[in-house]
Amino acid sequence: MSTFLVTGGAGFIGGNFVHRAVAAGHRVINLDKLTYAGNLATLTSLRDHPSHRFVRGDIGDHALVSALLAEHRPDAVVNFAAESHVDRSIDHPAAFIETNVTATLTLLEVTRNHWRGLPAAEGAAFRFLHVSTDEVYGSLGPEGRFTESTPYAPNSPYSASKAASDHLVRAFHHTYGLPTLTTNCSNNYGPYQFPEKLIPLVIQKALAGEELPVYGDGMNVRDWLFVEDHCDAIAMVLEKGVRGETYNIGGDSEQTNIAVVRTICALLDERLPAKSPRESLIRFVRDRPGHDRRYAIDAGKIQRELGWTPCNDFGSGLAHTVDWYLANQAWVAGILDGSYRMERLGQ
Ligand SMILES: NC(=O)c1ccc[n+]([C@@H]2O[C@H](COP(=O)([O-])OP(=O)(O)OC[C@H]3O[C@@H](n4cnc5c(N)ncnc54)[C@H](O)[C@@H]3O)[C@@H](O)[C@H]2O)c1
Repeated sequence: MSTFLVTGGAGFIGGNFVHRAVAAGHRVINLDKLTYAGNLATLTSLRDHPSHRFVRGDIGDHALVSALLAEHRPDAVVNFAAESHVDRSIDHPAAFIETNVTATLTLLEVTRNHWRGLPAAEGAAFRFLHVSTDEVYGSLGPEGRFTESTPYAPNSPYSASKAASDHLVRAFHHTYGLPTLTTNCSNNYGPYQFPEKLIPLVIQKALAGEELPVYGDGMNVRDWLFVEDHCDAIAMVLEKGVRGETYNIGGDSEQTNIAVVRTICALLDERLPAKSPRESLIRFVRDRPGHDRRYAIDAGKIQRELGWTPCNDFGSGLAHTVDWYLANQAWVAGILDGSYRMERLGQ
């Protein structure tokens, strides 16, 4: 059994990871600021669990993070906390620099101070795992896939802020020896995702009979991964990853946005037939500025070196996701506080 300080564990991927870690017998200290994207309802079943402690707070709060590390002496820090929505970064880039760069730097500094004070054996076993994205690599043409040695070429304020945090993590390993691990993952989908991102947004709008806006020609390609497979990969990197290394994680499941939207419509039509097929709700709208055309991950390194492979293909993962949203409309209603009107697309 390990103890993890998980940051951003009331969000989408962090929430899934916390459930997985507690179910696997680990102890989790869950530090989350509860921005619009954080939802305690995601953690309802863990509220009184002896292996889960929720702390509302900011990764940029030096004193708080320092006290949590000293009190709980985690075996690892797993950093999911971030501003994560590209559209929001286009409208308000400063918030992305504050959390993804400045606050992440504070988290790294506090963690380094803690780590260097640990007894040798504890320090040697300690890890700082930084969860990042394939968007740091920029956009691909029709061929090729991102490897760990692909040069960084971020195109949005979101991906630029994540790239900066990846570089800081790398620098803390090279300069100070902090035992870091970085994962760069493709687009995730699954339970507990805030309905501003493409898949839950389309599910919600299609259920409400609203128009389904699709950016540009709908031919932007993303490499989709079911969130539980991502969490399994992170657990494997924590357990077996080589300190200082980065690992690309992807589902080998490239889909155009329009294909994703059509598949969701078909899945909903099968489950809850409407007067006309939901595909008729699709509308092509003006493209997002700087919209990357294609992302695709070469996950060969984590497969070869750590033995990870995804368990879910896109068809089964998406069907499961649609069923989860149908069964959890109360969770969706809870996270939508009314100030966010679901008028933007997240892709
Ligand atoms: N969603 C994806 O498809 C995807 C793919 C690859 C990588 N990632 C990365 O994975 C991580 C998690 O993504 P997600 O989709 O779960 O994001 P999310 O937006 O659903 O959750 C982010 C969580 O972080 C919390 N948070 C934000 N700022 C904080 C701060 N300063 N201190 C403490 N908590 C804070 C929020 O309250 C929220 O609970 C991010 O770093 C993201 O860049 C996401």
